[in-house]
Amino acid sequence: MDDFEMLVETIKTQIDKVKDLDEVEKIRVATLGKNGNITSLMKKISTLPQEERANFGKKVNDLKMQIEKLLSEKTSVLKAEVLKSKSLERSIDLTIPGPLRSVGKIHVINHVINECVEVFSKMGFNVVEGPEIENVYYNFEALNTPQWHPARDLHDTFYISETLLLRTHTSPVQIRTMENQKPPIRIISAGRVYRNDYDATHLPSFFQMEGLAIDRNISIADLKGTLENAIKTLLGKDKIVRFRPHYFPFTEPSVEVDVSFAGKKEWLEVLGAGMVHPNVLRNVGFDPEKWQGFAFGMGIERIAMLKYGINDIREFPRNYLKFLRLF
Ligand code: DAH
Repeated sequence: MDDFEMLVETIKTQIDKVKDLDEVEKIRVATLGKNGNITSLMKKISTLPQEERANFGKKVNDLKMQIEKLLSEKTSVLKAEVLKSKSLERSIDLTIPGPLRSVGKIHVINHVINECVEVFSKMGFNVVEGPEIENVYYNFEALNTPQWHPARDLHDTFYISETLLLRTHTSPVQIRTMENQKPPIRIISAGRVYRNDYDATHLPSFFQMEGLAIDRNISIADLKGTLENAIKTLLGKDKIVRFRPHYFPFTEPSVEVDVSFAGKKEWLEVLGAGMVHPNVLRNVGFDPEKWQGFAFGMGIERIAMLKYGINDIREFPRNYLKFLRLF
C-alpha cells in the first residue's frame, strides 16, 4: 500500500465512524478545507519536478474525488436519518382514542311527548300548535267559562295584562283550531301550561297534550275507545284505565281518567276529557245539531311518572343530571 492508499483508508475509517453532520463537516475541513491535508497535497504539485507532476497530480486528484464521494454519501445517509427521526417525533398515533365529548340527549318529557304524538298520529290526529301567552277569551270565555265561573279559581295563573295570561291548559288550542278548520277535525297539541300549584303531583309549569275530534255522530264510546287504546299503548296492556265522572265547563258529560299503579292498588289521574259542550261549538260557529266531538287534556308528566315509576313530579324540572341520565 502506498501513502495515498493508506491516507484513503484512514480517512475512510474516520468517515465510517462519524455519527452526525457536524463531524462530517470537521473531516471535510481537515481534508478538503483551505489547510486540509488533501489541499496541501494539491498545493505541493507545483513544487515538484516537471516529470513527477503528472503522476502525482493524478493520484492527488483521484484521492480528492474519492474523499468527496465518501463525504457526500455519508452526508445523505445522515440527513435521511435526521428526517426520519424528526417525522417520528411529530407523528400522530391514529390508534389512540380521541377525547370523549359528553353528548346530550332528549329530555324524558320530550321523549314522552314524542311517543304520545306517535300513538295519536297513528289514530289519525294531526299536530297543531298554540301560544303559551294566551288571550283570556281563548283560555276561558270561548271555553264556556265566563268571568264569574267558579272553575276559574282552580286556574289561577300569571296575568300579563287584563286580557293576556299564561295559559292554564292547552284547551284554547281547540278554539283556535276550530276557528281555522272545518270539520271533520282530529288534532292534538302539546305544550307548556301554567298554574298556581306545587306538590308531589303538581307543578306551576307543566306539559299537557290536548286532543280534539269533531265529526258527525261521534259518541262517548269513541272517546273511551280512543283514550283507553292510547293509554294502554303508552303504558302497557296490564294497566287499568278508570273513567270517573267529573265536571268541566267546556264538556258535557265530562270525565277524569285515572290509571292504576303500585300493583293496581293506587290510581293517578292522567287526563280530563268529555264531549265538547254545545256552547263551545256555537262559539266557533259550528252547529251542535250537525257536529259533535270529544276532547281531552292529558298530563304529560303524569304519563311519564306512571311509565317510569316516578313518585315526585318535581324531579322533571329539577335538572339533576343523575336523574335525567336514567332515561
Ligand atoms: N283543560 C282541562 C284541565 O287542564 C283538561 C281537559 C278536560 C281538557 C276536558 C279537555 C277536556 O279537552 O275536554 O284541567
